[in-house]
Amino acid sequence: MQRISCLADLEREAVDKLDLNTRTFFQSGAMDLLTRDDNREAYNRIRIIPRMLRDVSKIDTSLSIFGQTFKSPVFLAASANQRMAHTDGEIAASRSACKHGVLHVLSSISNYSIEEVSKGVADLTESGENTSVRWLQLYVFQDRHISYDLVKRAEQAGYTGIVVTVDTPYAGRRLDNIRSTFRVPQHLSLGNFEKYADGMHTHSPTAESTRLAHQNVNYTNYQIDPSLNWNDIKEIKKLTKLPVLLKGILTHEDAAIAVDVGVDGIIVSNHGGRQLDTVPATIVALPEVVDAVKKRIPVFVDGGILRGTDVFKALAVGADAVFVGRPVLWGLTYDGEKGVDLMIDLINEELRLAMALSGCIKISDINRSYLLKSDLYPSKL
Ligand SMILES: Cc1cc2nc3c(=O)[nH]c(=O)nc-3n(C[C@H](O)[C@H](O)[C@H](O)COP(=O)(O)O)c2cc1C
Repeated sequence: MQRISCLADLEREAVDKLDLNTRTFFQSGAMDLLTRDDNREAYNRIRIIPRMLRDVSKIDTSLSIFGQTFKSPVFLAASANQRMAHTDGEIAASRSACKHGVLHVLSSISNYSIEEVSKGVADLTESGENTSVRWLQLYVFQDRHISYDLVKRAEQAGYTGIVVTVDTPYAGRRLDNIRSTFRVPQHLSLGNFEKYADGMHTHSPTAESTRLAHQNVNYTNYQIDPSLNWNDIKEIKKLTKLPVLLKGILTHEDAAIAVDVGVDGIIVSNHGGRQLDTVPATIVALPEVVDAVKKRIPVFVDGGILRGTDVFKALAVGADAVFVGRPVLWGLTYDGEKGVDLMIDLINEELRLAMALSGCIKISDINRSYLLKSDLYPSKL
């Protein structure tokens, strides 16, 4: 008997396995969890309008972004400290993404370093059968040298995009983490920062940051630079030839500025409801961003995606692809790399079925005509 039939099953199994500290870290959202939960509930409120009698015997979920081809539009989002879920952590997630021909985003705050993750997938790519596509999620730290060095290291290690998270000048107030006094386990370190602790920048406060991290102090609260602004984004653009994306945009105003300053892509995200509580669900914010961008750059969305029909709805609104965050952690917790494989297989299978049953053969067939218009309410009055 197969016990895991969907991502919600996987979540239940994973949650049962985790200790309180890790469970609250993964599940938590800001304050009353309204945005975290609304991310999911907003998908439930949208109806799909299917078309019949089209030959759906062959469904093609492939797509191309920045010249790279992917087998499915369901990508793996960045999340910190993945070794809290499974000892293979970010390497397992990246390997699974690679085998499935999808993108993996590595958090700045990963347990395995940028280079370790690249090495960890090398055997899969040597045969030439798999292409590993990884982007680095970048937090801009108070010591800019560190963030800029992370970008250089990502370039050298074969990453093909930089995702700057812009919704975290300060970490959101996650009450469950505060109540349970969240701790990164002592045996885990932040893989990307050990180099600086050894004195690469003698003036750098990073030795101090690493010490704080080892002391289980909330790293992001201490080191992320809250003065980050649009000029910094222009600087980051000058620093690298890789596409630079912004993660955490929720309005048409910011989307328009992003296009103006030359950003290469936008991820509509509210950090899985972990930052400012009561901001709109991402699927609600998505239409205005898509409309403002007018296909000039790719637009992605994350938050609350758990089913193939959620992916279908996000693509129908106009996202080029979607990211799943917590489901990666549930897969890792359940069975490491195999658990992430299972997660990706399940959601891809559901997407294929949603496409077939609504009469869409390929990704570019999916558009707003497949959604009940009255469900797509405007995100702002
Ligand atoms: C435990 C956890 C850690 C996260 N760490 C990061 C991070 O380091 N950087 C980042 O940009 N986003 C981080 N995120 C946010 C995810 O990238 C993503 O936006 C969010 O999880 C999407 O929502 P979902 O979990 O409902 O799919 C984290 C999310 C979780 C649940």
